[in-house]
Amino acid sequence: MTQPVPPSVLTSEEAAAYWDARHRRRGDLASGGNVHFDEPTNEIFYAVRLGRLLEIVGDANAAAEPLRLLDAGCGKGWFARSMARFGHSVDAVDASPAAIEACRAASADVPGRAPSYAVSTLSTWRPGCLYDVVYSVDVLFHIVDEDEWAASVRGLASLVRLGGLLAVSDWDVAERRVLGSYQVVRARAQYDELLATRGLERAAVGVEGFVPDGFRGSPVGFHVFRRTS
Ligand SMILES: C[S@@+](CC[C@H](N)C(=O)[O-])C[C@H]1O[C@@H](n2cnc3c(N)ncnc32)[C@H](O)[C@@H]1O
Repeated sequence: MTQPVPPSVLTSEEAAAYWDARHRRRGDLASGGNVHFDEPTNEIFYAVRLGRLLEIVGDANAAAEPLRLLDAGCGKGWFARSMARFGHSVDAVDASPAAIEACRAASADVPGRAPSYAVSTLSTWRPGCLYDVVYSVDVLFHIVDEDEWAASVRGLASLVRLGGLLAVSDWDVAERRVLGSYQVVRARAQYDELLATRGLERAAVGVEGFVPDGFRGSPVGFHVFRRTS
């Protein structure tokens, strides 16, 4: 019997070009959200996921000592702007210049509490500080190159302070799967094993450290880790 041929994946350069073009072409939410949803449905989807992120980040804020957050792969910045409005100090990076241009334009009228934006890949972001929470929404499964994926996860982990959290969205599956030319989901154990070597363990949230989106049967959710050493 013939085995099904797995779909071939884009090179890193092709994927970067795809995202930059998509951010230039599409509206605010569809460019980073689900292309199969219309804009109002993406509004609900984003709001639900913001709630999931809040379950993880918590509701504590302090004007004198804001939480330091990194939005890794921020797209057009919807989550970053929300977190900044909640009083947190937010850095937000994305590899797409078009996305960061849109972020800066959208934040122009709130300079005092706007996130600080930069064009950067996840694996090369070196801010010179550590974060209380590093989160990444629907980015890692779009990093199709395995070495780049591992370098990205390691890079994000290295930016979490002792006791801080890393929340990265992906499917919660036992085996790595290639879903299409620009989407590769990784196994739970791949995250666990890689992050154990960097001093992070599953956090006591959700279902064994996984907070599912719980939106219309979405298989995606946040894998959540805490730096313990
Ligand atoms: C599905 S979008 C999600 C955007 C945003 N987090 C959101 O939820 O609206 C994926 C984003 O990842 C960015 N991206 C892909 N590979 C990246 C990398 N290696 N480093 C940084 N950003 C990357 C893309 O430019 C795109 O903005």
